[in-house]
Amino acid sequence: MPNSNHIKRLAIVGAGGNVGASTIRHLLQINPDISVTIISRNESTATFSSSSRIIVRKGSYDDASFLGSALHGNEMAMFALSLYAEGLQPRLIDLAAKVKWIIPNEYGADGMNEAMLKSNQFLHGKAAARKQIEDLGMKWIGVATNPWTELCILNGLFGFKAPQRTATFYSGSGSFNGSSMQQIGRGIAQLISLPTMSTSNPTASLAHYANRFVYISSFLLNQNKIFESLKRATHTSDEDWTVKHSSIEERIKDGQEKIAEGDFNGMAEMMFASYMGEGLGGDYQSKHLEDKEALGLEDEDLDEIVKAALASY
Ligand SMILES: NC(=O)c1ccc[n+]([C@@H]2O[C@H](COP(=O)([O-])OP(=O)(O)OC[C@H]3O[C@@H](n4cnc5c(N)ncnc54)[C@H](OP(=O)(O)O)[C@@H]3O)[C@@H](O)[C@H]2O)c1
Repeated sequence: MPNSNHIKRLAIVGAGGNVGASTIRHLLQINPDISVTIISRNESTATFSSSSRIIVRKGSYDDASFLGSALHGNEMAMFALSLYAEGLQPRLIDLAAKVKWIIPNEYGADGMNEAMLKSNQFLHGKAAARKQIEDLGMKWIGVATNPWTELCILNGLFGFKAPQRTATFYSGSGSFNGSSMQQIGRGIAQLISLPTMSTSNPTASLAHYANRFVYISSFLLNQNKIFESLKRATHTSDEDWTVKHSSIEERIKDGQEKIAEGDFNGMAEMMFASYMGEGLGGDYQSKHLEDKEALGLEDEDLDEIVKAALASY
């Protein structure tokens, strides 16, 4: 790996979380030349793998000089904050002003899809963060992952509650991409390890992704595929499940009503209506295929991911 053309110093905020931990695990495996500065709160209980290539900087996020000095000197900063701490991001971006590359707090929907943005207000903060990065003269790379498959199997957001054996099929739903946490970490680690420029394979470079999204995916899903996999994993058949029917339109209406009542779950309903609704932005397979090659990713086995998810109930 020729050093001058690769990121050698990376800072991560939120490294003990789902995305952060999976990224670091893969990064340490595939990239022997990178040093990682983990920035974490004083009050954090997160633990980090000990490696000579990891430096942990703990401090108060109210202390601009702590954050500024921890971010300073890195070529790339990755923000992998809890959804509830995303409000910190504008400040982190300001303090990172001399870091060339930023991986902002995305890890979900395709932020370039107009229908997605229109239906999901909470994506607007993410769009504003990308603009802030550009305005400060830095480059962002947005990581689209779509639904985290294990998590969404567990919390029933695809319409299936395995322990209760209930299934809700939504008319108007179509194909949509989904990613396992392992694939997300692997994909981000590969992304960070790309050369900054490449003349021989320009699409496999950070320059190609500057101010663009990279599309990670484990598989192209639909409700039938998930249901079939759940039945295999639970050794059940159709008659063991109580099946209900609804529609994507109904789910959107339900989401809007919940949001109007101040119920945070409405956002998830809206988000999943967008992911699963035909033509609403959840199928980014054509964008993923190019990135899959650039990042050297392979499709995963849905049955394995479903079984692993069910085992963690
Ligand atoms: N596509 C999907 O299905 C999906 C699902 C969930 C989330 N997401 C997205 O992925 C992003 C990352 O989620 P995640 O699950 O990886 O995050 P997470 O595990 O919940 O949290 C990540 C890190 O955030 C830091 N943190 C937590 N509370 C904080 C606070 N009050 N102030 C400052 N830092 C705090 C912690 O780091 P320290 O303890 O080290 O400080 C924590 O390890 C979310 O923001 C969301 O945008 C997507």
